[in-house]
Amino acid sequence: MAHEHMAQDRHWYQVSGGVPLTGTVTAAGAKNSVTKLLVASLLTDRPCTLDLVPDILEVHLVLDMLAELGTKVSWTGPGQVTVHTPTVTATALSEAYSGVNRIPVLMIGPLLHRVGEAYLPLPGGCTIGKRPIDYHLSGLAEMGAAITEELRSVKVHAGRLNGVHFTLPFPSVGATESLLLAGVLAKGTTVIQGAAVEPEVIDLVMFLQKMGALVNVETDRTITIEGVEKLRGAEHSVIPDRIETASFAALAVATGGRIEVAGAQQEHLVTFLNAMRKVGGEFAPTDGGLVFWRERPLTAVHQETGVHPGFMTDWQQPFTVMLTQAKGTSIMHETIYEDRFGYTQQLAEMGADISLSDSCLGSGGCRWHRRGFQHTAIVTGPVALNGAHLAIPDLRAGFSYIMAALIADGTSTVAGTRYLERGYEDPVGKLRAVGAHIETITAQ
Ligand code: EPU
Repeated sequence: MAHEHMAQDRHWYQVSGGVPLTGTVTAAGAKNSVTKLLVASLLTDRPCTLDLVPDILEVHLVLDMLAELGTKVSWTGPGQVTVHTPTVTATALSEAYSGVNRIPVLMIGPLLHRVGEAYLPLPGGCTIGKRPIDYHLSGLAEMGAAITEELRSVKVHAGRLNGVHFTLPFPSVGATESLLLAGVLAKGTTVIQGAAVEPEVIDLVMFLQKMGALVNVETDRTITIEGVEKLRGAEHSVIPDRIETASFAALAVATGGRIEVAGAQQEHLVTFLNAMRKVGGEFAPTDGGLVFWRERPLTAVHQETGVHPGFMTDWQQPFTVMLTQAKGTSIMHETIYEDRFGYTQQLAEMGADISLSDSCLGSGGCRWHRRGFQHTAIVTGPVALNGAHLAIPDLRAGFSYIMAALIADGTSTVAGTRYLERGYEDPVGKLRAVGAHIETITAQ
């Protein structure tokens, strides 16, 4: 249960770098889609079946949470999970889940519809900024939920929620998903303006539509939900993880190798592929996937992260490591999170030339301009990286540390592997499949 997932890290990786990585890996299902689809299954008393479910800690964590609420969970085949909540047997999740991830807040809408109340731990997730949930809660409050925030939890009750017109101050993925999960069974129509339209959000829309929901997504970030009385069970295959794919693509380009990601979808990677090509990487479709390689000596670029269809904040870390191998001075401007460059300090200790700025260098400015947040990285390359002792601070930084260790001459040790295993399926197996020298060491 919760405490098992938060157990002390007793493993680390030993990584020897310096060789081009070549081979094929298969894309896992998207972590940031599957966890929301699992929550959506709470909206019906009928079974739901999901395919391409990744075997990652985050999925097991969410399945354990659902089991606490009365969900029957069965793995019905490789990568296939059936979740069925005939009756919601508890309206509270144990406090041990407080600060663990951002999923409990999404359960508010479904629990209100099923049982009229919810008592849930406040979210955590990676420490990459303040990450408040004010948009989630104000949207739900406007729909009629009575909310009491406690120190580590939130207590909510409501009769049937009402549809509302809500304008998001920023196209938040999680808040859009919260309002979708609350709106599909609400009385009347809910309109979300300024909604996030990330592929993972659209995947949730498609699953809800299969369950019987009426949801329309307009091209101007308006999502319109006509509330229905009841939803039914559905079967759905999770979209491939575009963060994992971009991570392996950056690894191929950075090491001068060639990696195929079976199952990767170009339509979810358009912005990444443009950026990768400008640095000197290239790609081609394969039979059901994409292959990535280094086309020419890498050169510096100016890149900024943004909401979809922009360059994902979760591509930023492997891309930044790749930029240490590009000739010239690159700029990476992070506009989604105010504090997502902390990981670069350990890269600098490996020899990377990276400095940070609180200015939006070379671009139109963002919410974090000159507010004291080091949200722009200036990366000068190419540099030879040296092996080091690294400690993973968060999930996405985790892959970038493994990447840096694989580029570096010599051997590195990487601690904090549970962060990585939360979101990447079988990272050691997949890295070995492309020729990486990586061992898991377990403390006695
Ligand atoms: N925000 C608020 N108030 C809110 C909600 C968001 O101010 O109520 C702000 C956030 O602080 C942030 C911005 O809005 O500055 C965007 O946050 P968003 O809500 O879009 O992010 P999220 O839903 O919490 C998901 C992913 C993240 C991913 C972001 C952006 C999940 C579980 N997490 O987070 O993934 O970086 O969208 O695409 O889906 C990861 O997988 O490693 C990860 C961090």
